[in-house]
Amino acid sequence: MLDLSPLGLIEAPFSLSPDPRYFYVSLQHKATLAKATYAIEQRQGLSVIFGDVGVGKTTIARRLYQVYRDRADYHTAYIPTPLFPSDFQFLKSICAEFNLSPKRSKLLQLAAFEEFLIKAFRDDKNVLLIIDEAQGLIGPQFELIRQLLNFETNTQKLIQIVLIGQNELRNKLRLKRALASRVATRSTLEPLHFEDTRSMINFRVMVAGRQESLFTEAALIRIYNYSRGMPRDICVICLNILPIAILNKVLIVDEPLVEQVIEELR
Ligand SMILES: Nc1ncnc2c1ncn2[C@@H]1O[C@H](COP(=O)(O)OP(=O)(O)O)[C@@H](O)[C@H]1O
Ligand SMILES: [Mg+2]
Repeated sequence: MLDLSPLGLIEAPFSLSPDPRYFYVSLQHKATLAKATYAIEQRQGLSVIFGDVGVGKTTIARRLYQVYRDRADYHTAYIPTPLFPSDFQFLKSICAEFNLSPKRSKLLQLAAFEEFLIKAFRDDKNVLLIIDEAQGLIGPQFELIRQLLNFETNTQKLIQIVLIGQNELRNKLRLKRALASRVATRSTLEPLHFEDTRSMINFRVMVAGRQESLFTEAALIRIYNYSRGMPRDICVICLNILPIAILNKVLIVDEPLVEQVIEELR
């Protein structure tokens, strides 16, 4: 393990795993979470969140999951990659996430799931299903989601579903008009502005144990220009900078050092 203490860091600030402690909440993240949360808590059924690769979708998905997983008045399930050969397999896997046993046919499985939803409703519990990488869903699986959303009272859905996916999901949904018309809230995550890029980097450095900035302003601008505000690219470049900074015994990272690392990444 690389000793980060010369930089005043207690742990690695730019890990690529989605540790919720390192989640920087910008205005855009607040708005996205608020919209999804509103739809979930008002039991409005379907929310969607779009965004390019590396923009922070899974980070948001896991944040939502973390919030509701621990609530006693929620049954919450999270499907990270819905790659199923059929809608029946998809349904079985959803049921398994809610601890329902597998049934022999799709019809029986649907009946069991409806029973579960009705019981949850009677027990004053909300049911939440979060599906990441939802652009991987195929036709009949979208149709299944529509069927699930049909379980409802006069005013509320019995299940809340958040679909999170790359922009391809937008195109797929467009073709599923019956489902698209049921979307209660939608958000698109955009790459960060420069100010948010700087704040996210400083935030992560601070969580990792260092109070003062690790980068000069010019270095931050270069990181922003290189990453164009994409959180994954920001993390990858910063991750690569750390060992070079330690090797060169610098206490603050300047622009030439960033440039050197960018050259090596090409
Ligand atoms: N709001 C954020 N705060 C801190 N780090 C973030 C944020 N959004 C994304 N990241 C980081 O960027 C990387 C990519 O994020 P991820 O959620 O996996 O993107 P996506 O699912 O859209 O491809 C991860 O390493 C994650 O830690
Ligand atoms: Mg992801």
